[in-house]
Amino acid sequence: METPSDSVARLSRLVRILLLLTSALVLVVVVVVLTQLYGPASPPPLAPVAEANEGPPPSGSYHRPATAAPDTATLPHTAAGRQIRYGRDLIAHTARYLGPQGSVAHLTNGMNCQNCHLDAGTKGFANNYLAVAATYPKLRARSGTMVTTQMRVNDCLERSLNGRPLADSSREMRAIVAYINWLGHDIPKGKKVYGTGFTKLAYLPRAADPVIGKAVFAAKCQSCHGPHGEGKQLADGREYQYPPLWGKHSYNDGAGLYRVTNLARYVKAAMPFGAAFDHPQLTDAQAWDVAAFVNSQPRPHLNTPRDWPDISKKPVDHPFGPYTDSFSERQHKYGPYQPIEDAHPQLAKAK
Ligand code: HEC
Ligand code: HEC
Repeated sequence: METPSDSVARLSRLVRILLLLTSALVLVVVVVVLTQLYGPASPPPLAPVAEANEGPPPSGSYHRPATAAPDTATLPHTAAGRQIRYGRDLIAHTARYLGPQGSVAHLTNGMNCQNCHLDAGTKGFANNYLAVAATYPKLRARSGTMVTTQMRVNDCLERSLNGRPLADSSREMRAIVAYINWLGHDIPKGKKVYGTGFTKLAYLPRAADPVIGKAVFAAKCQSCHGPHGEGKQLADGREYQYPPLWGKHSYNDGAGLYRVTNLARYVKAAMPFGAAFDHPQLTDAQAWDVAAFVNSQPRPHLNTPRDWPDISKKPVDHPFGPYTDSFSERQHKYGPYQPIEDAHPQLAKAK
């Protein structure tokens, strides 16, 4: 027969078990929440990457079948996930953080990285970042030195955004590099992905012509970029809706796009906005001539005395001498390029 004291003992045993179970549950919840918030910085799962579907990948490239663009919304809410999202935001809306009205620092001309690295650096042949994780640090002929991803980002900050560099240890640099590495982290070291770099564009048999290019600009570009290539700010004045193509708020003459071949290849695959490398909207000649026009207009100057320490490695279209040949600066800038390339067979590969 159960006495009252027996049932009290049973009850207290039950309460103890319940208490134990509850505290175990609380402990599990706390651990889960903590690992979500401060978990290890392991790379979050990578969503498939938007990429070239059509045409065979060039030999030697690592080709990943095209699917959807990588989406930072799929990242977990860990410290690592948040850092990558911040990096993406810095690429897409650089000016909001680092522009003349930036919330973190005032380092740049007001452009966004995404203005040139379309879709936050994921669009095929529109300057995407997919090759970076697998190919940096790398030897660059322009500097003649090994270049880290941070140095490369700062190159664009100082040239394409005509601004000042970020410290490697800054929260912003670490986030930008984390994002770029996340985009490319499953690409084997040393491999390139189809769709990185610029689209191919055959040389014209003549020089690219700024006068013809001016008419192309009026017909195909001016409606967005403005009659003086000045671009258009968003209503809040903190970021461009249409970025400037020349003038004091544009990239300087040390930037990659200041080379006419780079600009022509970029424009052919990406402009007018909405074009794609497999759906171009310009003929090759239009792309060359409009590039010649845009790069004939005034823009900030950058002193680059340390560029191309080995002048024999200057690309055919590098617009500043001295050269190892006797072609003029003008011909180097606008072409015709084939005779220059013929004089430097070793440069053909380095295009
Ligand atoms: C429909 C509007 C539109 C037209 C037309 C257009 N662009 Fe753009 N362009 C843009 C936008 C928007 C961006 C920035 C993209 C982004 O930030 O996602 C851009 C970016 C650029 C960039 C890189 C950033 C910069 O400012 O240097 C260049 C170069 C460029 N356009 C050249 C051209 C040329 C050349 C044409 C004409 C062949 C052209 N665009 C036509 C909207 C347009
Ligand atoms: C005005 C256009 C423009 C803007 C704006 C721009 N870039 Fe670039 N970027 C380029 C061009 C063009 C190249 C490649 C050509 C070259 O090598 O010179 C490049 C190359 C790079 C590379 C190397 C890619 C590779 O595969 O080797 C990185 C990384 C990079 N940019 C990061 C950035 C970041 C980060 C920003 C913003 C802070 C930025 N860029 C803004 C035009 C731009």
